[in-house]
Amino acid sequence: MEQPVEDMTLEEAGAEHERLVGEIRRNDELYYNRDAPALSDADYDALRKRLLAIEAKYPELITPDSPSQKVGTAPSAGFSKVRHALPMLSLNNAFEDGDVQDFIDRVRRFLGLPAEQAVEILAEPKIDGLSCSVRYEKGKLVLAATRGDGQEGEDVTANVRTIDDIPNTLTGKGWPEVFEVRGEIYMTKPDFLKLNEVQEAAGKARYANPRNSAAGSLRQLDSEITRSRRLRFFAWGWGEVSATSSERQSGMMAQIASWGFVVNPELEVCDSVEQALGVYHRIGEIRASLPYDIDGVVYKVDRLDWQERLGMVSRAPRWAIAHKFPAEQAQTVLHNIDIQVGRTGALTPVAKLEPVTVGGVVVQNATLHNEDEIRRKDIREGDTVIIQRAGDVIPQVVAVVIDKRPRDAKEFEFPTVCPVCGSHAEREEGEAVRRCTGGLICEAQRKERLRHFVSRDAFDIEGLGEKQIAAFWHDRRIDSPADIFRLAEIEKTSDRPLEATEGWGKTSVANLFAAIDARRHIGLDRFLYALGIRHIGQENARLLARHYLTMAALKEAMAAAQDPESEARRDLLDIDGIGPKVAAALLDFFGEALNLAVVDDLLSEVTVTDFEPPRMDTSIAGKTLVFTGTLEKMSRDEAKARAQAMGAKVAGSVSKKTDLVIAGPGAGSKLAQAQALGVVVIDEDAWIEMAGL
Ligand code: IVH
Repeated sequence: MEQPVEDMTLEEAGAEHERLVGEIRRNDELYYNRDAPALSDADYDALRKRLLAIEAKYPELITPDSPSQKVGTAPSAGFSKVRHALPMLSLNNAFEDGDVQDFIDRVRRFLGLPAEQAVEILAEPKIDGLSCSVRYEKGKLVLAATRGDGQEGEDVTANVRTIDDIPNTLTGKGWPEVFEVRGEIYMTKPDFLKLNEVQEAAGKARYANPRNSAAGSLRQLDSEITRSRRLRFFAWGWGEVSATSSERQSGMMAQIASWGFVVNPELEVCDSVEQALGVYHRIGEIRASLPYDIDGVVYKVDRLDWQERLGMVSRAPRWAIAHKFPAEQAQTVLHNIDIQVGRTGALTPVAKLEPVTVGGVVVQNATLHNEDEIRRKDIREGDTVIIQRAGDVIPQVVAVVIDKRPRDAKEFEFPTVCPVCGSHAEREEGEAVRRCTGGLICEAQRKERLRHFVSRDAFDIEGLGEKQIAAFWHDRRIDSPADIFRLAEIEKTSDRPLEATEGWGKTSVANLFAAIDARRHIGLDRFLYALGIRHIGQENARLLARHYLTMAALKEAMAAAQDPESEARRDLLDIDGIGPKVAAALLDFFGEALNLAVVDDLLSEVTVTDFEPPRMDTSIAGKTLVFTGTLEKMSRDEAKARAQAMGAKVAGSVSKKTDLVIAGPGAGSKLAQAQALGVVVIDEDAWIEMAGL
């Protein structure tokens, strides 16, 4: 038990203060400079809160370098330092509804407002990203800096220029000559998940959450890597400006949107504390469904003259407060650790938990990533653990509650043989993951490859999802991909027809077979991706398809390239974007007789169409399109594929670089953003005509 601060003597407080300063510094360093926090936000906040409580009781313990006197941490090496024209402030936190009422009361008292005078408050989501200040002079982006310690940050101009949501030149009218926009750089949850898959496939460490991956992506020394990470930006305010053009925070934000920035669509001006709390609860309810992480709601006094009078105290404005959401963490018992075998043989440890609700969702499994992670956190079967939903998606084990460890809990021994097929499981040099070497001998790998084979970006067979694949596998109806295409044939003579199986009927079976038949022709890039070769994601599959153009050419090249001295090997390694690791995985796959048999068997059932390079002679070639709302005559994927085949780029959000928005019913903030930026908007029918469909 921690000693309550109020009972502490000065001596005890001094010792505890020293301990807390050390802990906070260590965690700041991990959080800001290594993008690898060791503590949850709630635990970190608790440390700071305790430090503040000690300093409130014994102000003599406050030193100029106490963490209470600083925001964040000093910049790390690698980027040059920039001094902020105006400091980048922090926010005080509110945790309960009453804290928000207190905040408004303080504002009223400070301004000496009569009870009947309304205090308008702008409420908006608190984005869980990293803040950035971007300076424009005469409308041109000249400097972008991270927050750093609030006074001095890092110069990340080159990297920020790659972010689509941040214009290089301001649009619209009326911007001041000097204008610093401030806001939050973040990564969407889907982009975070994709990035981790890529990281994992490349044998690199996974990021803990979207915030850390945004930080890691912004702090790349190579801007092209930053560009590929598709970072986003929400503007939430400003720094130095040569003039303000509105008397309200909300008015300024509308103007900032008109100058080419993305302002969060959930902003709401409130007349009362009740209304502001209503926004907090409403946003809390949609939190999980937002495509980005938020950790609270920020309330800001809307009138700028009042903001000025209120000023700041100890590095936080008096005119704003962050109302934090409860941490999405919970404690539960970890019963045992299961080892799952993936498509490429990776052995992934999964914690089997006593079911527990975390942030409104029941969690029974949590990923443990790999054996090093288990060792680092010293996780044992029987332990009580803290679970967190990172990025609202995959639950993780944050730490073990050592006090609750059963006496007989033994260190976990990670298997060195595949638990499914018994083949040796090995770790390659420099890799965190242990892999089963069984290849297609391993049932688990075969099954996972099948699952991948029918997934959305691969064969995408309607009515044949994970559930059906698992059932067909279990029934021994299918064992390899080609079997899918033989299902209809087998059905005719089967003594246990699918039609007579539970959950199926005449119509659904007929529909399934029709959907399977519809996929007997498939493009080379999709086909390659569907094979589930290690390191061959959509991007690499496309690069290979573009290079080899036909399946026959690719197969021939793979056979020839098995010889390290061959022209074909050099040619493969010369493909821009295909590195030695990817090439090795490809050659491994095509050098294995079992794999070749699977591919040939499949080729006897399906036709792989030659790669068609995107056309450059269409009206949308080279343009950037955004689809929003519901499309009624085709799926989003079809529309996207069509646009790409016509040489267009398809983006996920509207910025000043967008050329055309196709809006279906239900289009929301993207449509509004397009209208604000004056981007051309068409409906689905106009798009169908344009695409010649
Ligand atoms: S206003 C002086 N608004 O939260 C006012 N900050 O904990 C400064 N943040 O440093 C902040 N979303 O990085 C503001 N809608 C929002 C925000 C926001 C995220 C971050 C920002 C700030 C930190 C403070």
